[in-house]
Amino acid sequence: MIEKKNNNIAIIGMSWGDEGKGKFCDYLAQKADIVVRFNGGNNAGHTVVSDGIKYKFKLMPSGGPLEKEVIIANGCVVDPKVLLDEIENLKKLGKKINLKLSSTSHIIFPFHKVLDGLEEESKGKYSAGTTKRGIGPTYSDKAARWGIRTFDLINPQLLKSKLEKLYKIKKDLINLYDSHWDTDFNSIYEEYKSYGDRLKPYVIDTAYYLNKAIDSGKKIVFEGAQGTLLGIDHGMYPFGTSSNANALGISAGTGVPSKKIGKIIGVIKAYTSRVGGGLFPTELTNSIAEKIRDQGKEYGTVTGRPRRVGWLDLFNIKYSIMINGVDSVIITLLDALEGINPLKICTAYELEGRLLESWPIQSEIIEQCKPLYNTFNGWEPKTSEEWSEIAKQGFNALPLAMKTYIQFIKDELQTDIAMISIGPDRNDTIVLEENLL
Ligand code: IMP
Ligand code: MG
Repeated sequence: MIEKKNNNIAIIGMSWGDEGKGKFCDYLAQKADIVVRFNGGNNAGHTVVSDGIKYKFKLMPSGGPLEKEVIIANGCVVDPKVLLDEIENLKKLGKKINLKLSSTSHIIFPFHKVLDGLEEESKGKYSAGTTKRGIGPTYSDKAARWGIRTFDLINPQLLKSKLEKLYKIKKDLINLYDSHWDTDFNSIYEEYKSYGDRLKPYVIDTAYYLNKAIDSGKKIVFEGAQGTLLGIDHGMYPFGTSSNANALGISAGTGVPSKKIGKIIGVIKAYTSRVGGGLFPTELTNSIAEKIRDQGKEYGTVTGRPRRVGWLDLFNIKYSIMINGVDSVIITLLDALEGINPLKICTAYELEGRLLESWPIQSEIIEQCKPLYNTFNGWEPKTSEEWSEIAKQGFNALPLAMKTYIQFIKDELQTDIAMISIGPDRNDTIVLEENLL
């Protein structure tokens, strides 16, 4: 038998993003050889605290500040200016850049951002409240097969001939909404040509590169952006993003076949949050919401918008666990629920007097459902030093009420818990499953 290696792990959000994935990607990146982004673009905001410095990345995978090899794979959409700025910022901090950018990733242009805003407005009640970074319009062009890829960007002749066509189409389209919009073709072309020159050294066929790396036993972290419920195929359409923000997106988004993907870790926040529009059955709008938002610092990394917050919804997370094939979960931000008593967890949805068997993916049905809750005792507030000290001592040192809350999640999801996070620092983590990678 020929032995196949797959020392790799995927970190995936189980809800609507912002579950605290960045911290664990960074945690695992320390042990990894390569960190890979496979979906989304600069709509994602990952906060990583590394060596006491807080990094807020939008596109750069979390291994960036650790000088690890990082890959932006074909499933991503790339705003070249944002990426070049992130590269420059890391260089200024004296960091070595070890980036590979997929030649088949798609490029975001200024007209995509304009269209993002205009399309959102015209969608009315069906608008998702996007980050307005041009993500949806760029993926639309990819599917329509007139998108411009990184390979085109770094080849000026190709860029010119493809951009001429696309520019004309987009200008006509934008002018339907806004007859005054006009940006000179040449200025876009010249600007993007120079981005292409600067990005060229990083561009390769990342699918071949990654498969070779996996076969040779390299340790790889697949870093999911956003969360499962925002995914285009298996999320709450149309109130989500335009990529597969789940583990199913890894294969198509990187060219790594699913049987080569090792462990899949689902990240769950101790409560739920959501940025932008769309239904949120367990949403809170009272003083408890304010307290959670405040204690969990729930403001968007990309747009600064206050996030909507609510009780933990294990009914939709069960669906996410299924879609992703999650091996074990990480629970984050338990400390942010301190001082709230009682706590609630949603475990079922009721529709017309009966309990649903699985999460109804259709928002028109979700709208009619009533979430059902279990109630739990809360835990006392502590200083961040006290939480750090508890993290050092391990699981048994956690407040009893918190242990009960965690055990309930484990039983309900029938899934092991790999780690627990009770503070923002890398060390404020309790590891229950050693040697994940
Ligand atoms: P888009 O990805 O900018 O098109 O936005 C589509 C929807 O996904 C909006 O509701 C956004 O608020 C949400 N979204 C996109 N990226 C993130 C993220 O990284 N965290 C949380 N929500 C996000
Ligand atoms: Mg985020």
